[in-house]
Amino acid sequence: MDQPQNRVFSGVQPTGNLHLGNYLGAIRNFVGLQETHECIYCVVDMHAITVWQDPKELAANTREVAAAYIASGIDPERHIVFNQSKVSAHAELAWILNCVVRIGWLNRMTQFKDKAGKDREKASVGLYTYPVLMAADILAYRATHVPVGEDQKQHLELARDTAQKFNNDFDAPDFFPQPEPLIMGEATRVMSLRDGTKKMSKSDPSDLSRITMRDSADDIAKKIRKAQTDPDPLPEDVKGLEGRPGADNLVGIYAALSDKTKAQVLAEFSGAQFSVFKPALADLAVEKLSPITNEMKRLMDDRAYIDTILEKGAERARAIADPVLARVREIVGFI
Ligand code: AMP
Ligand code: TRP
Repeated sequence: MDQPQNRVFSGVQPTGNLHLGNYLGAIRNFVGLQETHECIYCVVDMHAITVWQDPKELAANTREVAAAYIASGIDPERHIVFNQSKVSAHAELAWILNCVVRIGWLNRMTQFKDKAGKDREKASVGLYTYPVLMAADILAYRATHVPVGEDQKQHLELARDTAQKFNNDFDAPDFFPQPEPLIMGEATRVMSLRDGTKKMSKSDPSDLSRITMRDSADDIAKKIRKAQTDPDPLPEDVKGLEGRPGADNLVGIYAALSDKTKAQVLAEFSGAQFSVFKPALADLAVEKLSPITNEMKRLMDDRAYIDTILEKGAERARAIADPVLARVREIVGFI
C-alpha cells in the first residue's frame, strides 16, 4: 500500500461559536496547505457529542463549520471536506486503537481534566477516549501532516505514540506513519479578550471574550474596544510584552491577521496607546473577517449545496479510509 508523503488531515468540532482562535490557529492554515498538500478537512461531529449537543443545533453547527471552511478558501472540489460520522472507518479504527492505547496515556491528557472539571465521574466515557478517536481520524488516512492550534499538541503526541505502538505490537513496521503536527503562525493560541491568561474558547460564558465568525463589523469593533489591556503604551520589542498578556494577545492577533511578525507590528506601533492601536486592529479584523462572514451566511442559506459537498466528500474519504481499514483488519487477525 502506497504511503503518500504530503497528506494533510485536520478537524474542527461543530460545537457552535466558531471564533477567531479557530480561524487563526487552524482554518486559515488549512487554506494555505492546499497548494502543496493533498488535504482532508473534517467536521468532527463524533467528537462534538463527547459533551451534550442538542441534535438540531449539532446539524446546523455541522453545516456552519463546512461553510466556514469553504468561505475561508478551502476548495472542496480539489480537496476533501466531509463530516466524520458519515465515514464508519473512524469509529471502527477508534475501537481497535482503544485496545492499543494505554489508560496511563489518557490519564495524562490535560484537556480531559479541563473539560471534565471537578466531577470527573460524570464525564462521558467518550470524552475520556476522545484522543483515541482523534488518532483514528488521522491514521485512517495515513496522514502525514496535521495543522492544529497549540492546544492539540498533546493529543497529536498521543496519535504519534499510538501509530508507533500499533506498528510495533503487530510487527507492521512503517504501516502507520508518524503524523507531524503543523502549529503555524503568530496566533497558535489566541487568548480570551476578557482575560489574556485564558484561551479564547467556544464555551466561555462571556460573549465579549471571543470574536466569532458570525460577528458583524460593529460587534468586532465593540469587542476589541472592550478588550482587557493595561494602561501602558505598546513596547518597542517583543520582550516588552512579557507579563502583559492582554497586550501580547492583541499584538499577536494583529500580526496574524496582517501576515506580519509581532516584532514588525511593534516596530510600527511602538509607543502607541491602545486608544490608537485598538481601532487599527478593529479595522484590520473587519477587513479580513467580514468577507468570510458574508460568504458563510450566503452558503448557509444554500443547505442543499453544503449537504452535497459533505456527501461527495464522504464518498471520497471512504475511498481512502476503507482500504486502510481492510489492511488493519488483516494485520489484527480479524477474518
Ligand atoms: P475545536 O473548536 O476545539 O474543534 O478546535 C478546532 C481547531 O482550532 C483546533 O486546531 C484548535 O487547536 C484550534 N483552536 C481552538 N481554540 C484556539 C485558540 N484559542 N487559539 C488558537 N487555536 C485554537
Ligand atoms: N480535537 C481537535 C480539536 O478539538 C479536533 C480534531 C478531531 C482533530 N480530530 C482531529 C484535529 C484530527 C486534527 C486531526 O481541536
